[in-house]
Amino acid sequence: MALRWAKAGVEVIIGSRQQARAASVADELNLELGTALITGMANAEAAAAADVVALTVPFSAHRSTLESVQAQLQGKVLIDVCVPLDPENPRKMLMPPAGSATEEAQELLGDSVKVVAAFQNVSASELRALEHVIDCDVLVCGNDRAARQTTMDLVTKMGMHPIDAGLAFNARVVESLTALLIGLNIRHKVKGSGIRLTGLPS
Ligand SMILES: NC(=O)c1ccc[n+]([C@@H]2O[C@H](COP(=O)([O-])OP(=O)(O)OC[C@H]3O[C@@H](n4cnc5c(N)ncnc54)[C@H](OP(=O)(O)O)[C@@H]3O)[C@@H](O)[C@H]2O)c1
Repeated sequence: MALRWAKAGVEVIIGSRQQARAASVADELNLELGTALITGMANAEAAAAADVVALTVPFSAHRSTLESVQAQLQGKVLIDVCVPLDPENPRKMLMPPAGSATEEAQELLGDSVKVVAAFQNVSASELRALEHVIDCDVLVCGNDRAARQTTMDLVTKMGMHPIDAGLAFNARVVESLTALLIGLNIRHKVKGSGIRLTGLPS
């Protein structure tokens, strides 16, 4: 995600539990792109410095990571990419009591943080191959319309097609599609199956 945004001219801060790790990955990606648009910081500093924050950690670290940056997220848009997969079997979901990761994040962070679900159905291997055009839709849902629009603009900048998928409870479906896609990847021996909807205005 960082590579694709920076390629589109967006300034990106990579967060990590270890600042040095973030800085080293940022250097590596800048070198690959020939830019200086990517920097690396510790998670809390990254969340404080960013306008929009994307959370991409294993679901086991979802709650603890959100708690660690809760103060820095106030008033911002949080794009939650995390998927509550069953650690025993990633072809299955283990949804949290809130209904989905997105709803859990919204419940935990409170109304001043605008949580939006996006990118759950895009594979990292597709994102990583920069020369590759990603031929799939990105479903975007969350309770705040303006935050959804901000996220859809960022999807468009990455060269993908965003679809406004409505309120946060739809994240239950969007996140669950990831388990299905992982199963399809295994079944059909591919790395990056994705989704494409029909019948909507282009
Ligand atoms: N990979 C995909 O194709 C894909 C597609 C759609 C959605 N997702 C979802 O996106 C999320 C991230 O996936 P990923 O493949 O990028 O995961 P990952 O590579 O396993 O982890 C991403 C980063 O999370 C941090 N992290 C790992 N364990 C942690 C812990 N216990 N506590 C705090 N931070 C921790 C690490 O950063 P530091 O060590 O630098 O802190 C790590 O580099 C997941 O919820 C996944 O389901 C992934």
